[in-house]
Amino acid sequence: MSSEPTRTILDRRSFLRVAGAAAAGGAAWLAGTGPDGPLDAVVEAARPGAVTRYPLRVPPEVSPSGLTLTAEPAVVSLGGTSSNAWTYNGMLPGPTIRAQSGDSAMIALVNGLTEETITHWHGMLVDDVNDGHPRFAIPPGGTYQYQFLINQRAALKWYHPHPHMLTGEQVNLGLAGALIVNDAEELALGLPSGPYEVPLIVRDATTDRNGNLLYKPSSGGFDGKFSLVNGIKNPYLDVGTALYRFRILNGSNARIYRLALSNDSAFWVIGNDGGLLPSPVQLTTSDIAPAERLDVLVDFPQASLGTSVMLRDVRAGWDLLEFRVVNSVSTGGTVPATLPAITPLSIADVSATREFSFDGMSRINGRTYELTRIDFTVPFGQTELWRFTTNGNAPHPVHVHGAVFQVWSRTGGRGAVMPWERGWKDTVLLEDGETVEILIRFDAYAGIYLLHCHKLEHEDMGMMANFMVV
Ligand code: C2O
Ligand code: CU
Ligand code: CU
Repeated sequence: MSSEPTRTILDRRSFLRVAGAAAAGGAAWLAGTGPDGPLDAVVEAARPGAVTRYPLRVPPEVSPSGLTLTAEPAVVSLGGTSSNAWTYNGMLPGPTIRAQSGDSAMIALVNGLTEETITHWHGMLVDDVNDGHPRFAIPPGGTYQYQFLINQRAALKWYHPHPHMLTGEQVNLGLAGALIVNDAEELALGLPSGPYEVPLIVRDATTDRNGNLLYKPSSGGFDGKFSLVNGIKNPYLDVGTALYRFRILNGSNARIYRLALSNDSAFWVIGNDGGLLPSPVQLTTSDIAPAERLDVLVDFPQASLGTSVMLRDVRAGWDLLEFRVVNSVSTGGTVPATLPAITPLSIADVSATREFSFDGMSRINGRTYELTRIDFTVPFGQTELWRFTTNGNAPHPVHVHGAVFQVWSRTGGRGAVMPWERGWKDTVLLEDGETVEILIRFDAYAGIYLLHCHKLEHEDMGMMANFMVV
């Protein structure tokens, strides 16, 4: 551990953060000190079975054309208590951007924070000046104008900050939102929509004794004390007797969840990071690592009227969200028997193989990230095989900018490609002892993109590389 050179940088940043918070202090900071903050903690500690639950928040939807996103401090409700947070447009999570494939995005990012920021559209295929690379970070008071064409298949993407060494802190303090792309192929399936399609941003959090979100990084990754779904602690959602589509994003800095429904009811996974899977898969548990997404169908049958079902994380034993089946409805929604075919990238087309070793907590192939160093170049339009191995301190959720990929193999560890990893992905989990191979082809844009561990503390410590598609 003493050989981790960037550890002191993380510490310096977190020190600055604490100093900044103290200086920012004042009325806004105090306004978040809700009287029920300590009480809430007492209730939980005393009787975990009798937790008071609060309505799930569903962020408002906005269009990507002519949108202004202001990164700014705000006081937000976490359900029973309020907290200071860093937000997009005063909201935790930020507004849900809903776009049609073919739309033009025109988005102004305004930096209302006291430190630099830049926003990355995670999973979006955009040219590099629109990708939110840390070299484009803007100072406090600055504006960054994004303009790009949304030209990709339907999927749940998301947006979050990506400034050099500050991503973990800014995401943890609240800066993140969903970005949903729709297309005609998806529309034709008649999937649950409107109130029956609900984005769920799941993350963990820690609060200080005044109930304010507290970012305490550690080199093993931020380890929060409780979960938030769409920014609400202990949420519930009233549902009808119908099929629901939950668009789940793991927005945590470092935590991996194993999702399950109470009573082991099955659900269908129909999509992931890159959109719809080649076919629906029925499961009773599914893992989701930081930055991964799952597109899940859950049926609440007529017989369940008056009951409640809990979305749980069986790894931590956490109750994430309670579904209260309170309305009898008939929407006629059904799980599609088939999904649109996906053309596999072919191993026979592989023109190059690259090896990436995720070393310790801060290095890829032995090197920590440098903002201006290009670590490798990749030819445009060629299929490549990338092999990820871990050299200690896994798990590492590995993420690539600038392309989506297909998971080809996993050896060691879990030893298989998981059912929810079929189709297209932009983030893949590398557990201890695992080697994961992906097939990838950069056929959207040339330019400078990033490969990094999406455990945000690892990313901030330097487990990231620049590459150039040429
Ligand atoms: Cu979700 Cu490079 O990030
Ligand atoms: Cu990304
Ligand atoms: Cu990592």
